[in-house]
Amino acid sequence: MAPSAITPTEEYKFTHEDYKSIEPALGRLDNHGVLLGKQLKGEALKSRVEAVDPDTCDVGDEDAFFVADLGEVYRQHLRWKKNLGRVKPHYAVKCNPDPQVLRLLSELGLGFDCASKNEIETVLKMGVDPSRVIYAQPCKTKGYLRYATNAGVKQMTFDNADELYKTKQIAPDAELYLRILTDDSASLCRLSQKFGASMDTTGELLELAKKLELNVVGVAFHVGSGASDPKAFIKAVQDARFVFDQAAALGFNMHTLDVGGGFTGDKTFEPMAAVLSASLDEYFPPHVRIIGEPGRYFVSTAFTLACHVIARRTVADATLGTTSYMLYMNDGVYGNFSSIIFDHQHPVPRVLKNGNDILYDARRSGYDTPSMVEYSIWGPTCDGIDVISSSCTFPEILDVNDWLYFEDMGAYTKCSATRFNGFTDNHDVVYVCSEPGASALLGL
Ligand SMILES: Cc1ncc(COP(=O)(O)O)c(C=O)c1O
Repeated sequence: MAPSAITPTEEYKFTHEDYKSIEPALGRLDNHGVLLGKQLKGEALKSRVEAVDPDTCDVGDEDAFFVADLGEVYRQHLRWKKNLGRVKPHYAVKCNPDPQVLRLLSELGLGFDCASKNEIETVLKMGVDPSRVIYAQPCKTKGYLRYATNAGVKQMTFDNADELYKTKQIAPDAELYLRILTDDSASLCRLSQKFGASMDTTGELLELAKKLELNVVGVAFHVGSGASDPKAFIKAVQDARFVFDQAAALGFNMHTLDVGGGFTGDKTFEPMAAVLSASLDEYFPPHVRIIGEPGRYFVSTAFTLACHVIARRTVADATLGTTSYMLYMNDGVYGNFSSIIFDHQHPVPRVLKNGNDILYDARRSGYDTPSMVEYSIWGPTCDGIDVISSSCTFPEILDVNDWLYFEDMGAYTKCSATRFNGFTDNHDVVYVCSEPGASALLGL
C-alpha cells in the first residue's frame, strides 16, 4: 500500500479566528497572568470554603474541590509555541480529561492523544475531527480498535508483530507509527518496560508491515513521564532517524515523527525543549512533520486542590513532653492523591483556613516551617497506606473544620481516583481564568 501524503485537513489549524491576536502574548510570558491566576484562585478558594458550615451543610458540600485556572493552560500553550514551535502537541487526554481543559485545547487547535474508546469518544463528541486524534496505545483492545476505525481515527501506534496482525484484520487503512524503546531511566514514571520496540526488532517489524501491506507513516517514542534528562530525547531522535532510514530502504515514505510526552511544566522545560529542537533540526529536515503527546505539561500547575480536616487525633508524648497531631482529610491516596501512589508525587500541604482566618498564600508550606507544630496528614479511608504526608509542620494549631490546599494537582490526580470505601471520585472543579485570550476562546 502506498504511504499516505499529509493532506491539508490533517494539518489542522489553530481554530481561533485570528491567531495574530494572541501572537503578541508570546513575547510577554511574564508574571502578570501568573500573579492574577494566583489571586483569582485565592478568591475562589476563599469564597467556596467560607460558604461551607460543616455543622449545618448538606452532605457533599464540604467535599474536597479543585480550583483550575484555565489561563494557566493557555499560558502553557503559548510557552510551548515559543519553545517547541515545530512540534504540534496532541494533548494526552489520560492525564486530565477535564472538559474545560479539553475544550480550550481543542479551540487552540491541538490534537489529542487517546488511549481508549472512551477518550476517543470524548474528544470526537466535542467536534474534534478524527484526523486530529492519535490512538497512542501500542496494545489495543480489539473492540476499541474497531470503534476507532469506524469513527475515522486512522493514526495509531504499534510496537509488536501481534498488533500488526490485529491491525491488518481490523484497521487495514490505519496510519501506523512504530513506537520505539527509549532510555527512560531518568523519568518519574517509566514506560519502556512495557512499551516500545527495541532497535534490533524494528527492521523485522517494518518488513512484516510491508508484507501485510500496512501503511507505516512514522515513528513514535516516549522518554517516560516526568522526564528529567534531555539526553534521552537526543538518543530517541537519533534512533527515530535510524528507523526512518530503515523504512525508506523498504519503500515506506515516513512523514511524521511523534516525540511523545514527558515534559514537565517547571523550569526544566526550556532547556529540555532547546535540546529536543536542536536534535530535531539536526536529524529531521523541515518537511518532516513533528507531533508530540504532552500531558502533565499542560495541566499540572493549573489545578489547586482544597481539602477539609474531618478529624484530628492528638498525640502526646509524655517522655519528650511534645504534642503532635494526626489530621484526617476528606481526600487521600484512593482519591485525588492517587498521584502519590501512581505518579510518585509529593504534594505540598499549605494552610487555607484556620479557624476564621484565611491563610492562602500567606504562609510557607508544611515542609519549610521548622520548629513548629508537627502533623501527619491522612486520607479518609480505612487503609493505613492512605497517608498524604507522614510529617510536616505549621505554625498554627489546626483542628477539625480547617482547610488545607495543595498546588500543582492537575496531572494524574482526579483521573486515577477511586471510589474505595464509598467516597466520591467526582470532585467539583471551580474554574477561573487569568488570560483574556482563553476567556474569549471559551466564551467565558
Ligand atoms: C503514550 C503516552 N503518551 C503521552 C503520555 C503523557 O505523558 P506526560 O504526561 O508525561 O506528558 C503518556 C503517559 O503515560 C503515554 O503513555
